[in-house]
Amino acid sequence: MDGASPISSLREGEGQAEALRHVHRPLPHDSGFKHVQGLAQYIDDIREPDGTLHIAIGQSPKARGRLVALDLSAVRSEPGVVAVLTARDVPGKNDVSPAFGDDPLFAETEVSFHGQALFAVVATTREAARRAARRAVVEIEAETPSVTVEDALARGETVMPDYAFGRGDADAAIAQAPRRLEGCFRIGGQEHFYLEGQVALAVPGEDGDIHVYSSTQHPTEVQHVVARVLGLPDAYVTCETRRMGGGFGGKESQATQWAVTAALAARVTGRPCKLRLDRDDDFVLTGKRHDFRCDWRVGFDEEGRIAGYAVDLLARCGYSADLSGGVVDRAMFHADNAYWIPAARIASKRLKTNTVSNTAFRGFGGPQGMLAIEHVMDRIAWATGRDPLDVRYANFYAPGRNLTPYGMEVEETDILTNLVRRLEETSAYRARREEIAAFNASSPVMKRGIALTPVKFGISFTLTHLNQAGALVHVYQDGSVHLNHGGTEMGQGLYVKVAQVVAEEFGISMERVRITATTTAKVPNTSPTAASSGSDLNGMAARIAAGAIRRRMAAHAAELYGVSPEQVEFRDDRVFAGNESLTFTELAKKCVLARIPLSEAGHYKTPKITWNREKATGRPFFYFAYGAACAEVIVDTLTGENRLLRADILHDVGRSLNPAIDIGQIEGGFVQGMGWLTTEELVFDREGRLLTHAPSTYKIPVASDVPADFRVSLYPNANREATVYRSKAVGEPPLMLANSMFCALADAVHALDPSKPVPLDAPATPEAILRACEALRGRAMG
Ligand code: MTE
Ligand code: MOS
Repeated sequence: MDGASPISSLREGEGQAEALRHVHRPLPHDSGFKHVQGLAQYIDDIREPDGTLHIAIGQSPKARGRLVALDLSAVRSEPGVVAVLTARDVPGKNDVSPAFGDDPLFAETEVSFHGQALFAVVATTREAARRAARRAVVEIEAETPSVTVEDALARGETVMPDYAFGRGDADAAIAQAPRRLEGCFRIGGQEHFYLEGQVALAVPGEDGDIHVYSSTQHPTEVQHVVARVLGLPDAYVTCETRRMGGGFGGKESQATQWAVTAALAARVTGRPCKLRLDRDDDFVLTGKRHDFRCDWRVGFDEEGRIAGYAVDLLARCGYSADLSGGVVDRAMFHADNAYWIPAARIASKRLKTNTVSNTAFRGFGGPQGMLAIEHVMDRIAWATGRDPLDVRYANFYAPGRNLTPYGMEVEETDILTNLVRRLEETSAYRARREEIAAFNASSPVMKRGIALTPVKFGISFTLTHLNQAGALVHVYQDGSVHLNHGGTEMGQGLYVKVAQVVAEEFGISMERVRITATTTAKVPNTSPTAASSGSDLNGMAARIAAGAIRRRMAAHAAELYGVSPEQVEFRDDRVFAGNESLTFTELAKKCVLARIPLSEAGHYKTPKITWNREKATGRPFFYFAYGAACAEVIVDTLTGENRLLRADILHDVGRSLNPAIDIGQIEGGFVQGMGWLTTEELVFDREGRLLTHAPSTYKIPVASDVPADFRVSLYPNANREATVYRSKAVGEPPLMLANSMFCALADAVHALDPSKPVPLDAPATPEAILRACEALRGRAMG
């Protein structure tokens, strides 16, 4: 990697920093050393309590049909088996869904996808449980499954009602425009491939109490659903999450089922029970990014300016609703990406298929909505013969052209254009475009391509009530600080960011702030750590809690030294009051002796957001995060093999809370997006079986796929909204920077015959690229 660029961008950030000690600094991840030394505890590393039992899932061998008979006698008689659980063992409600009541823990009469849980085996070892699970005799009256979007359209089956919004008469605008295009663009799904798979350990306590360690982004939901399934009050259940080895949205709602299974097993056996899914089972049993078919029409002029755009977003949701309501809504909210569309109709269908229920994945539908319009931008460019970047410029939100199709104003119309202009310069886009054209003119087989694409991503949960967070802070009499909040750590660096905020508030060194595991017993009723909002929400809640304690401490110091509280300053582990000063520890001790409480629960809710889904009006997002990427690729047009040669990224994280963490998020997000768009392909057969359920058949990016020349910079900017230290969320938006890679690949293929559009869907695997090359050469592939 080009070492100079991140460092230069750090300096840029520092130039703007206030006189702050911890916030805005590139501190390492609090667990970084433990990660690389193998000392960070994941759930499977927790020393198992004596007598711990292990669980395996019995899966449906058919994708759709009626469960006629389930004979588990052979399973029960296998050595080591302690219990076998089915729907009949559920004391409460047989439902692990996040909201809609359509995800049974174990199927009862109807099976809905291949692999669906029918029962669970609890045994003395994991191997014994897995072996026994295979001895079940299952009889299913099978029906033809719906596997594809087309199958679901033919049957007219959806998991939720259709939804649409828009502005003006898109059909008329398209019809009256000087130029028109239409198409059907397909976008593939994506497996999360977190390094730590789904896992939970449940330990039973007194009176039916249960303590669940779960690798979940949403401890509160695990707590609540364990209680629902076991028929207990929430107060009997505690869910604890120290860290995940990656979540990426795959543990927002879909960690719950495994935690609940472990809790039920613990309830039935009275012993601690652990469930860790095998990697292949994890692939088969958990939902993925939604794949989409996008049917689009656009009207535009010779400059490439859009007059009207209509798109039908047809999402494959799998067998249940899960989070598909929000995911597809977010695809709709991002169908405009960075572009002003005078007349728009954005419509969607949430199609029900007999496949695993698709779920959250970094970007939460946004990437799919955005990629569709980036493809349309390329189609317009190819049709008009203009540079794709110029077509994009012609359509950017601008003053007076700044209302989204859902009626929210884009207030920062300057950032995006400025950011893209700057990246255009620093990446030398124009010069390289010419150089690439010259190269392609003399290179019949190897073709290079370049693309510069923008990202505008809305920050906030579109379900308004989720935009809240809590934190719990204690200052002990030795001056050490216990920090807890509702956010979870999945590798993204949330814990260190929130600790920085608390250290800043107390003017103490980072070492004094003890980061502790997320637990529903300390902070209740939390939202999932998702929608990139972890540090916005929990950072604020922790700052509010710490600030309240600091003000009480300051008042006491003021009283002791006869100054006003405003004259008390917390800095460098000391407290200054007029001409006096004492250590933070000394003041903490004095406060305890004076009976001043040094504990506080902070609560924060995001201001300004209002979204009425029924009326499709209001402001779903507190603000937008922006970025742009320029990717250059080379393609072997006789094989479809390709390589990313160079990527330049300029990304807006406001005033970064931690530039080292943020640059890591940008690099990681980009590479994960690259995988989605180039090598990761999910294949289901006609029976609804997932054929790509292991790394042998499903290819994620590896270190050698990271471009040799990778230049990532932060755009110097302060959030105009009053977020925590004027930072912006960073978790998801950078994934969509990888759209540049997809568009660059299409650009390279386009060089084969500039008179034709490139028929390339996502993912642009080597096979797909080769097919597109052959189509441009006028040869069809079998
Ligand atoms: N980074 C790492 N290393 N691991 C993850 O699982 N998840 C992403 C993103 N970055 C993820 C990650 C997703 S999907 C989201 S929504 C955000 O982190 C969540 O964390 P944040 O809100 O604290 O940014
Ligand atoms: Mo992220 S997809 O919002 O968990």
